[in-house]
Amino acid sequence: MSKKIFSGVQPTGNLHLGNYLGAIKNFVTLNNDNENKCIFCVVDLHAITVKQNPKELRNNIRETVATFIASGIDPKKSIIFNQSSVAAHAEAAWILSCVARMGWLNRMTQFKEKAGKDKEKASVGLYSYPVLMAADILLYDATHVPVGDDQKQHLELCRDIAQKFNNDFEVNNFLQVPEPLIQKEFSRIMSLKDGSKKMSKSELSDLSRINLTDNKDQIINKIKKAKTDPLLLPKSLKEIDERVEAKNLIGIYASLTNSTLDKSIENFAGKNFSEFKEKLSQVLVDKIEPISAEIKKLLADQEYLDQILLEGVEKANSIASKKIEGIKEIVGF
Ligand code: AMP
Ligand code: TRP
Repeated sequence: MSKKIFSGVQPTGNLHLGNYLGAIKNFVTLNNDNENKCIFCVVDLHAITVKQNPKELRNNIRETVATFIASGIDPKKSIIFNQSSVAAHAEAAWILSCVARMGWLNRMTQFKEKAGKDKEKASVGLYSYPVLMAADILLYDATHVPVGDDQKQHLELCRDIAQKFNNDFEVNNFLQVPEPLIQKEFSRIMSLKDGSKKMSKSELSDLSRINLTDNKDQIINKIKKAKTDPLLLPKSLKEIDERVEAKNLIGIYASLTNSTLDKSIENFAGKNFSEFKEKLSQVLVDKIEPISAEIKKLLADQEYLDQILLEGVEKANSIASKKIEGIKEIVGF
């Protein structure tokens, strides 16, 4: 069946292995299936929910496009564009924020994590962020949304908003209720320094993540310094559950080699970490180094990247502007 795919990535710098294995790798697979129509959005409106340096933001938008292409997304087959250039996103977000309920947003765990202890000082945008995300998806009648595990709750909210809109205005299926596409294994890649925290762009220590722009030496060094435990590598799935760092590293290995956690555990059962880390570094370098080199090459050609965005914006706009007209009509404008 032909799928309409939509996903977004924030241009907040430091795209990392978690973004790649949790989301972008899946974008590439979906993009390679000719049956699918794919739209990948650089969500710059989401980025400004926390303070950004304008100059860096502009660079990060281009770098996110470069990362998509370097990872294997073909801009001829997919629409790649930035959110702020298509006005319908902000318009739809407002209308949908009048459909979404405070109680629904109050349950969002990502807001609680990102706002931290001082919620009073968080931006209003950070709070209503999932409504904008729903607008992104619903404007394109997306049927499937590939994301990492941390976005599951936001997708459920998007489904609730779509259903409430359809019910309230009695427009059966006008907004397509989307399905999340979340990988079963390795949907959450953890920090190399603490296996209980997710790998993140905003973590202070660069040693906590493999950036997609890292070179061979940086990758080898980060894996060498990655936290482990004093035991030999686990022999079974049961044993690995309590050993979060071992689980994360073996999971990364399994995902990069397109294998399963089970098989990878079997492969290294009872071996020591140093031997395993050498193998892991090798598969990481093989995968990440070409992407990193390609990102750098693409970034040197700003005109090319801007051209991709320009074409993407035009295509996205022609879809989204029709949908927002429909939404306005239904609401009574
Ligand atoms: P963001 O950088 O927050 O815009 O995330 C872009 C995509 O990467 C989303 O689909 C996230 O769910 C995914 N992602 C971010 N961090 C991780 C992680 N540590 N593990 C798995 N997926 C992740
Ligand atoms: N909120 C997502 C994240 O932080 C990014 C995002 C914005 C997104 N709009 C989207 C993902 C629409 C999927 C679909 O990772």
